[in-house]
Amino acid sequence: MATLEKGEIIANRCLAGPYWEIAVRLPQVAVAARPGQFVHVRCGAGLWPLLRRPFSLFAVDREAGEIRLVYQVKGTGTLALTKKQPGEELDVMGPLGLGFPLEPGLRKIWLVGGGVGMAPLYFLAREAAASGLTCDVFLGAVTAAGLLHQELWRGVAARLELATEDGTAGHKGVVTDLVETVLRGNRPAAIYACGPLGMSRRLAVMAAAAGVTGYASLESRMACGVGACQGCAVRLKDGSYRLVCRDGPVFRLEEVEGEPDGP
Ligand SMILES: Cc1cc2nc3c(=O)[nH]c(=O)nc-3n(C[C@H](O)[C@H](O)[C@H](O)COP(=O)(O)OP(=O)(O)OC[C@H]3O[C@@H](n4cnc5c(N)ncnc54)[C@H](O)[C@@H]3O)c2cc1C
Ligand code: FES
Repeated sequence: MATLEKGEIIANRCLAGPYWEIAVRLPQVAVAARPGQFVHVRCGAGLWPLLRRPFSLFAVDREAGEIRLVYQVKGTGTLALTKKQPGEELDVMGPLGLGFPLEPGLRKIWLVGGGVGMAPLYFLAREAAASGLTCDVFLGAVTAAGLLHQELWRGVAARLELATEDGTAGHKGVVTDLVETVLRGNRPAAIYACGPLGMSRRLAVMAAAAGVTGYASLESRMACGVGACQGCAVRLKDGSYRLVCRDGPVFRLEEVEGEPDGP
């Protein structure tokens, strides 16, 4: 169940370029959190910016009652978040939304992350590894600096494949090209994805063609975060609209509308 909780900031540091990580002591959120869920954060001091901003849970230490978020500075809210200092309070609502289900009987899964979209997949990888699942991980970014926390990923991934659009690390190109190539000779039990909408839409088409099931966490601009304002609606493959904050952010890949030129 979602709670409103104010917790002490333990650390808030720049990882590389526009990418930051914040760690916060939030025992109630930590104990309830599941991979793929998100928290809605009051980023500024006082009431500006008025609306909270959503961030996926990157890592959760339930025993210590701590959560970690990885965020990319985009505009007013994320810039305000960088100004927060250790020892200050962070006002958080969460955990919110439906996370990634780990169905019983799965043995090997693929995690596909695009940019800062890798955030919820690390929490998922830790939980999956603790349940004895093998994770092959595919991460993509525009440039090498965007391939965050590679040392942590190496600790949980049976196989780690990297792609950058400018070729500064790993395969040159987008991560979905890499997945498509590997998919020709291998087939996971399921694909779990988070990244830009275009990436999830392309994966939905590829997974359907390969007969592989899976889940994608979708992004949308959010206001309330709890299903009240209807502002985060996303169109699914069957033409229906769902709220990313309440019905997602995780949806079955089969539900995700394919690329405009896809099947
Ligand atoms: C469920 C969910 C989980 C998320 N998890 C993370 C995370 O773990 N790490 C992270 O860095 N970001 C995450 N985001 C995106 C993050 O919430 C936005 O980048 C943030 O709200 C931008 O706030 P801002 O005030 O800095 O930017 P604004 O000033 O509001 O906007 C700046 C620019 O960013 C674009 N933008 C803003 N919000 C979004 C969005 N939701 N999707 C796409 N473009 C957007 C705007 O169109 C604009 O061009 C998540 C979003 C959702 C819905
Ligand atoms: S953000 Fe208000 S309904 Fe989803």
